[in-house]
Amino acid sequence: MSRPYLVTGAAGVVGQSLLAALPAHAAIGLVREGGTRPSHAAGLLTGDVTVPALGLAPGPYRRLAGRIGGVIHSAAITSFTRSAADIHRVNAGGTAHALRLATDAGVPFHLISTIYVERRPGSIPTGRSRAYRESKQAAEELVRAAQVPWSILRMSLVIGHSADGSIPRFQGVYAAMKALVTGEAHVIPVAPGSFIDFLPRDYAAACAVALIEAGAGGEHWITAGKRALTIDQFTAVCTAYARRRGWQVPTPRMVDSEMVHRLIMPAFGDRLGADVRKRLELFTDILGPLTTDRQLPTVEPGLPGPGDPPDLVSCLDASLSHWGSRVRLIPPGAIA
Ligand SMILES: NC(=O)c1ccc[n+]([C@@H]2O[C@H](COP(=O)([O-])OP(=O)(O)OC[C@H]3O[C@@H](n4cnc5c(N)ncnc54)[C@H](OP(=O)(O)O)[C@@H]3O)[C@@H](O)[C@H]2O)c1
Repeated sequence: MSRPYLVTGAAGVVGQSLLAALPAHAAIGLVREGGTRPSHAAGLLTGDVTVPALGLAPGPYRRLAGRIGGVIHSAAITSFTRSAADIHRVNAGGTAHALRLATDAGVPFHLISTIYVERRPGSIPTGRSRAYRESKQAAEELVRAAQVPWSILRMSLVIGHSADGSIPRFQGVYAAMKALVTGEAHVIPVAPGSFIDFLPRDYAAACAVALIEAGAGGEHWITAGKRALTIDQFTAVCTAYARRRGWQVPTPRMVDSEMVHRLIMPAFGDRLGADVRKRLELFTDILGPLTTDRQLPTVEPGLPGPGDPPDLVSCLDASLSHWGSRVRLIPPGAIA
C-alpha cells in the first residue's frame, strides 16, 4: 500500500472534502487542538501550522516525516474579518512550515490555493479580501521555490456537496446568498453578465485528488470555466429559492462595481445608510474578486479528472436548501 498523505486543515470545508475524495486509508489529517475531528482519515494528528515542525515534538515529527508520501496543505484562515497579521501568519507562515515537513520527508507538496490570487479587473484593490489574496500569493511564491516536487491547485469558490448541499461551515458566499434570499440586496456592485465561478466541494476535491494522484506538478486551475454561471443566473437561483419559500423579494439591480465605488458611494457620502454601505462592501469583498467578464482557465484537457462539473444551477439550489434548513431566516418585511 502506498504511503498516506498528510492533509493539513483536515477539519475544514476543503480538508474534509479532500479526505472524502481520497482512497480509504490514504490520509492522515492534521487538526487543531480542540477543533472538529473529521471522519475519513486513517489517523488524526493535532498540530499548529504557525509553529515550526507543526508544533510536534522531535520524535513524532521524525516519525511523521518517515511515514507520509506527500503533504496536501489546506490549513488556512479563509475569513476576511481576521487581522491581516493573523491571515499572513497562518496562510504564508503555515505554508512555510508545512513545506518544510515535505522537504524533510523528501515528498511532494501540494498547496490548495485559490482563484482569489488573481485580482479581477475592476475589483477594489483595498477591499477586505486583500490580506487573504496577498497571503495566498505569498504562499504560492514559497511553493514555486520548493526543493521537492510541488503543485499549486487554484480552487474556485466552493459551495455545498453536489448531492445534498451539505457543507461543514457556511463561509463568505453564504452571506451574499443570504442578502439575496432575504431581499436585503437591492443593488449588486457587479456588472451584469459577469461570470461567477464556483464549484460543489466534492467535485472540486475530486479534481484536486485526481491531479495529485496523477503527479501532475505545476500550477492548475480547478474552476467551472466555461460552465460558470453569470451573476444574473446566480441571483435568479437565489431569488427563486426565496420565492419558493413564499417570500416577495426584489430582483436586484446589477451595477458595475467601478460605478458604485468611484461614483455612487463618494457622491452620496454619509447619506448612504451604514447598512447599505456595509452590504455593498460585503458584495464587493466576497463576490467582486470572484466575478469576471471572462471565464476562468480550468483543468487543462488531457489531465485526469472527474469530467465535466455537475449542473451548477442544481448544485446552488441544493446548497441553498441545505443552508436554509439549518439557519433561522427572517422573512423580508418581518421584524427581527
Ligand atoms: N472554501 C472555499 O471556497 C475555498 C475556495 C478556494 C480555495 N480554498 C482554499 O482551501 C483551503 C481550505 O479552506 P477551507 O474552505 O477548507 O477553510 P476552512 O473551512 O476555514 O478550513 C481551514 C482549516 O484550517 C485549519 N487551521 C486554521 N489555522 C490553523 C493552524 N494554525 N494550524 C492548523 N490548522 C489550522 C482550521 O482549523 P479549525 O477547524 O480548528 O478552525 C480549518 O480546519 C484554504 O487554503 C483556502 O485558501 C477554499
